[in-house]
Amino acid sequence: MSITGIKGMNDILPHDIAAWQFLEQQARQIFHTYGYKEIRVPVVEKTELFSRSIGETTDIVEKEMYTFVDKGNNSITLRPEGTAPVMRSFIQHKLYNEANSSKLYYMGPMFRYERPQKGRYRQFHQIGAEVIGQDDPRIDAQVLAMLSHFFTAVGITNVSLQLNSLGCNACRPDYRRTLIEFLTQRLDALCDDCKRRYSTNPLRVLDCKAAGCKEATATAPSVLDNLCTECEEHFHKVQHHLNALEVPYEINNRMVRGLDYYTKTTFEMVTTALGAQNAVAAGGRYDGLIQELGGPALPGIGFAMGVERLVLLLDTHKLKAPVPQLFIAALGERAQQESFVILNRLQHQGIYAEMDFSGKSLKAQMRLANKLDSVYSIVLGDNELEAGTVSLKRMADGTEMNIELHTLAASITAALDGEEA
Ligand code: HAM
Repeated sequence: MSITGIKGMNDILPHDIAAWQFLEQQARQIFHTYGYKEIRVPVVEKTELFSRSIGETTDIVEKEMYTFVDKGNNSITLRPEGTAPVMRSFIQHKLYNEANSSKLYYMGPMFRYERPQKGRYRQFHQIGAEVIGQDDPRIDAQVLAMLSHFFTAVGITNVSLQLNSLGCNACRPDYRRTLIEFLTQRLDALCDDCKRRYSTNPLRVLDCKAAGCKEATATAPSVLDNLCTECEEHFHKVQHHLNALEVPYEINNRMVRGLDYYTKTTFEMVTTALGAQNAVAAGGRYDGLIQELGGPALPGIGFAMGVERLVLLLDTHKLKAPVPQLFIAALGERAQQESFVILNRLQHQGIYAEMDFSGKSLKAQMRLANKLDSVYSIVLGDNELEAGTVSLKRMADGTEMNIELHTLAASITAALDGEEA
């Protein structure tokens, strides 16, 4: 029996790659205009990095991490997200001493042992961005403006930005206590998961999809009514700046995040088009994380987008993998050899050219040219080689143009320019 891939881990096949490359290229282009630099960190880290940053009582750390003991007896984990590794690297390499390294972006695979379904996988990909060292609410608004700009640029419009504040070390403990008190009186109505976690991670109960939990928490105290003055002011200013930048958003005081490092502003870009997996991007502030990981007391804010979910929302019909610009059909042995050399020359000149090496008949070679969707083709035989001319055929309508063989590259380039114009 042949070996198949691992459940929840997908191949990204050539016919799907155009969408991925388009999203990555748009992200790079947009992030660069906002001053972000790319960072690449390993896919495995010490387990402790994630348990300390994401939080021991979160679903990710409790249930979803791919954790192994390596041959050196170290506990290592396939990264379930990108923020903690990027902060680890930022601290380790003292990037805070470099003027140009405070806005970082990354793209790559993440791993969570979740139950796979549409839009939820065990290996998935994120494109993320982080800003370190600035707590000005204008930064929060600018990060969200960039995120929103990205969605517009790639043509994904059926999303809405949900905004909340989760407070800080000064106000969240009080809110947590208030919420636990509220939940204690309604324990019977909560699902088993929430009964277990209401005292360790009470905010998660607000986010539970179980009908009983939703009903029981309908009148729960709002985090936004329990912010300290500083958090309240910050949240107010973020909204003011979002309005100034004309970034649409909705306040959602029940939006909590599945990672513990957040403070103040949190957000999710959600869609109704993907069923239960409604978050296409998410993030927020994490003003205590860098210090918690042993670095200086610097604030941070960022987001990550789920690339598989973006691909599902993308209008892909205009995105095409590159097709050959020229197909060379060769007739006879001498033409085969000449074609082989010409093909290589064209490729050196930046022209995407193809030919057949399996000795197909002329008819079969032309069928292949059609299948590959080649824009132009030529048929090269002894006659063409002797005359030094060849007929350049436009595959879409069969129109032909006689050209000198030694001008092939220039003629194709000119013809392709004409196609684009
Ligand atoms: P997160 O909400 O855990 O945040 O993940 C961000 C996004 O990754 C989600 O909104 C979703 O689109 C995608 N995603 C998460 N899990 C899966 C999965 N199993 N399958 C497919 N897509 C998934 C973080 O990871 C934070 N590090 C974001 C952040 C950056 N916060 C600050 N900076």
